[in-house]
Parts: sequence; C-alpha cells; structure tokens
Amino acid sequence: MGIRGIVLAGGKGTRLGELTKVTNKHLLPVGQWPMVYHPLKKILGTGIKDVLLVSGTEHMGDFVELLGSGKDHQCALTYRVQDEAGGIAQALGLAEGFSAGHRSLVILGDNIFESPVTPMLEEANQHPDWAWIGLKEVPDPGRYGVAELNGKQVVGIEEKPKNPKSSYAVIGVYIYPPDVFEIIKTLKPSGRGELEITDVNNHYLRQGRMGYTILEGYWTDAGTLDSLVHANSLVYKSPPRF
Ligand code: DAU
Repeated sequence: MGIRGIVLAGGKGTRLGELTKVTNKHLLPVGQWPMVYHPLKKILGTGIKDVLLVSGTEHMGDFVELLGSGKDHQCALTYRVQDEAGGIAQALGLAEGFSAGHRSLVILGDNIFESPVTPMLEEANQHPDWAWIGLKEVPDPGRYGVAELNGKQVVGIEEKPKNPKSSYAVIGVYIYPPDVFEIIKTLKPSGRGELEITDVNNHYLRQGRMGYTILEGYWTDAGTLDSLVHANSLVYKSPPRF
C-alpha cells in the first residue's frame, strides 16, 4: 500500500467577488506563486510523486496550462473534473480510481501554512488504517470544522458550529486509508447541499480510527478577501517550508 497526493481546487469561490469573476480562486497569487502551488509543494515535500488535482470545468484548462504533466515539479500530475461544486467529500470521491488500494494525503487548495506535512504523515504512518487530521488553535473557530477534545482524544467534530466546543479548527490536510471511498458513498448532502468532509471524519471517529497532529507555525485558509490578504502577509513575512 502506497500513498497518493490529492489537491482539491474546485468549488465556486463566490466569497472573493470580482477577483474570481474570470479566474479560479486557486490561481490567485499567494506570495510569489499562484495559490495552488502551496498545497502541491506541501505534498511533494513529503516525497509523494503521484498527485491528482480536482477542479471544475471552467478553469481546468488554466491548471493544465500552469502545471502541465508535473514535469517542472518532478511529479506526475493527473486531473479530474468535478462537474458541480458538491462538496469537499464529493471532490475527494473522484479520486477513487487514482488512489485505489493506496492511502491518500488530501490538501484543500486554499490552505496556506508554514510547516511541512512530513511530521504529520510520519505520525499517521503509525496507524495506516486510521484517518488522520491536523488541528490548529484559532481565534474564530466557528468558521471551520471544530474538534471537541476530551483529554487527548477527539470525541466529535462539528462543521461551522454556532457554539464551538473548542478553539481547535480542523485544517484542510487529511490522510485517509483506502476505505475512505466506501465511506463517501454512504454520505448524504448536508444543509448546505454538500457532501461534507466533516461527516467522513466523524465516521472514522465513531469507529475509533482517528488520530490528529497539532500543526506548528501559522495556518490560514485564503478563501475570503480578508484571509487572502492575511495569507499573503504571512507568506511574505515568513515563507512556508515544504
Ligand atoms: O479550511 C479548512 C476548512 O475547510 C475546514 O475546517 C472545514 O471543516 C471544511 O469544511 C472546509 O471549510 P470551507 O467551508 O471553508 O471549505 P470551502 O467550501 O471553502 O472549500 C475549501 C476548498 O475545498 C476549496 O478551496 C476547494 C475545495 N473544494 C470545495 C468544494 C465545496 C472542492 O474542490 N470542491 C467543492 O465542491
């Protein structure tokens, strides 16, 4: 059993207004690169060479033009189209054939952070049939998936709760065993009409197959005007390490 890398770069990007009128959120600049380089380079930094990029129909051509076969990044890239933005778990489901029989390291295309992913992957490697998530303490947990902790144990995850049970956000870096695709097939759309990655994670939690790593260094998403500016200033002050 090997491990494959997956960058999820679909979605509607509606929160960025005019900035995403003619382009995709993940092609906007963060520091010296288009946003999508950040998750891609984090994956490549772990030594993974086979990477799938998922995006919508509108801008897939731009991603291919930017990244090509992956040759310039010493990796092999595969592309899959998500016809409609049906959620993060739906986008991941498109990787079933690509990751068949392998584990998957999944990074959301708009997650920008300082530390390499390798320490998290090394911890996850101790339990290859578990799901593994990253947590980060944030001042505004209600914007994210939030982990409820009991001692060192995650006991539940809530998606954008009104009353967060902790200040630990679930970051957009996930490691899954091969059976994640069977779990995705059992999901029903949430209130916002999406297949939720939080439902996938809670499934593993209920089975007692979930571990986590607390991420060091800064972390932010870059999906809103404020967070995009914030991401750029963080990256400018202290470039991420891969
Ligand atoms: O950033 C971390 C957070 O990401 C987590 O804490 C949440 O649990 C998780 O649900 C997610 O929250 P958001 O609501 O902020 O996710 P968003 O819809 O902005 O999507 C994040 C990325 O996922 C986006 O940059 C591209 C990818 N995506 C998203 C959707 C909805 C897809 O590839 N396809 C999709 O259909």
